[in-house]
Amino acid sequence: MTAFSHPDDFAGQTQPLRAAAARVLQAVEDGQSLAQCLPLGHASITPQEKPELQALCYGTCRWYHRLDAELAQRLKKPLKKSDRVIHQLMLVALFQLRFSQQASYAVLNETVEACRALGKPHLTGLVNGILRAAEREGEPEPTEPAVIYSHPAWIVAKLRHNWPDHWQEILAANNTQAPMTLRVNADQGSREQYLQWLTDTGIEAKPTELAPWGIQLAKPVPVERLPGFGDGAVSVQDEAAQLCTTLLDLAPGQRVLDACAAPGGKTCAILEHCPELTEVVAIDQSAARLPRIRENLDRLCLSATLKEADAADTGQWWDGEPFDRILLDVPCSASGVIRRHPDIKLLRREADITPLAGIQLGLLESLWLTLKPGGRLVYATCSVFPQENHRIIQRFLRQQFDARLIGPEVSWGMDTGFGRQLLPDSQAHDGFFYSVLERSTQAPGPPIKNV
Ligand SMILES: C[S@@+](CC[C@H](N)C(=O)[O-])C[C@H]1O[C@@H](n2cnc3c(N)ncnc32)[C@H](O)[C@@H]1O
Repeated sequence: MTAFSHPDDFAGQTQPLRAAAARVLQAVEDGQSLAQCLPLGHASITPQEKPELQALCYGTCRWYHRLDAELAQRLKKPLKKSDRVIHQLMLVALFQLRFSQQASYAVLNETVEACRALGKPHLTGLVNGILRAAEREGEPEPTEPAVIYSHPAWIVAKLRHNWPDHWQEILAANNTQAPMTLRVNADQGSREQYLQWLTDTGIEAKPTELAPWGIQLAKPVPVERLPGFGDGAVSVQDEAAQLCTTLLDLAPGQRVLDACAAPGGKTCAILEHCPELTEVVAIDQSAARLPRIRENLDRLCLSATLKEADAADTGQWWDGEPFDRILLDVPCSASGVIRRHPDIKLLRREADITPLAGIQLGLLESLWLTLKPGGRLVYATCSVFPQENHRIIQRFLRQQFDARLIGPEVSWGMDTGFGRQLLPDSQAHDGFFYSVLERSTQAPGPPIKNV
């Protein structure tokens, strides 16, 4: 059973913040994402406590594997499954002892109180004893990379294998807090004008290095504080994600497909970048996520044709008219955005990657047939695993005789031979992969690139 089997579980009773955090973390361990279960945790705390609940849950997920290794050493035997929420509660307390400025006496007292609030008064002695020892003795020196960098062992092994010269840098970047980055709506003004507007509002910011419309804030702020946000002056979007529009080489009159579109960040970027497109068709398989595209379009006063469908099943949604441009931002492991979604460390399994690669190749094969000869497809992932990135393109080019690799021809990222890889940069963009393919105007013959 998940910690939040019903949204009313905690509603109406005010619970200590730590108890709510422990229950959210239990739900994550049971397979729910932080985005899904944090709002349920809000039911039991005061509105003022929401940012703190978020900080506790994100921080504990970020350092979960390291904290868990310490707790495992301190517990003589694991807690019973029915008491597992107290394991999460102690991880939250350890997170505060090791990674926050919170006074340790407050952490100890409030954790014991939360233990009672969670209906486990018989465990208060154990919790108190473990946390007192942790405070007194300090953190044991971690030696294993999976513990030092707080990642599941399979991710460490995979990164080490795939990126022998960069794996530590990737793991370290995954543990940093991502910057808040904006995309300026060029229709409403220049990047320089918006930077000035931010300065006038007292918000420190600088232009992004790679994305021409990007602005990186020195500190995150609530979007309501961003000048003109409600009127569509800017959107929140990572710098790497913004790069898709330049790679698509958009021009007036084109028909564009955004095949895996929700929540619509890139759909909106495409429409802002080239308002004179004939049509943008935005598809997503998830009925729950599709309304997010509509909300984003509405705020920016943009319009697109939205379809709820499995993009790979073209018989279900395609009218037979080919597209000049296709953006294929496939579902992936999200291993390039772990710093934004630290719950990925708990939710993703090694066994997920091969099936994901199958879905990615399947989408590419199906959508290729909807691309106009001479048209261009941009393949994108927020992954750093080659299995989902350049190896998909390599496999595709081996079999698709009318496909040609044409880019990205850019200086950023690393050349993989089949596209460019950006690794997560603690000072800037997320981890991302892009490949640009062109469909030949000739009838299909032998492969164009000898792979
Ligand atoms: C990486 S996210 C897309 C992010 C989006 N492009 C943006 O920039 O805002 C991948 C999306 O693909 C959708 N998806 C997964 N499988 C799909 C399929 N077979 N057909 C259409 N959409 C799919 C998921 O629901 C998810 O919204």
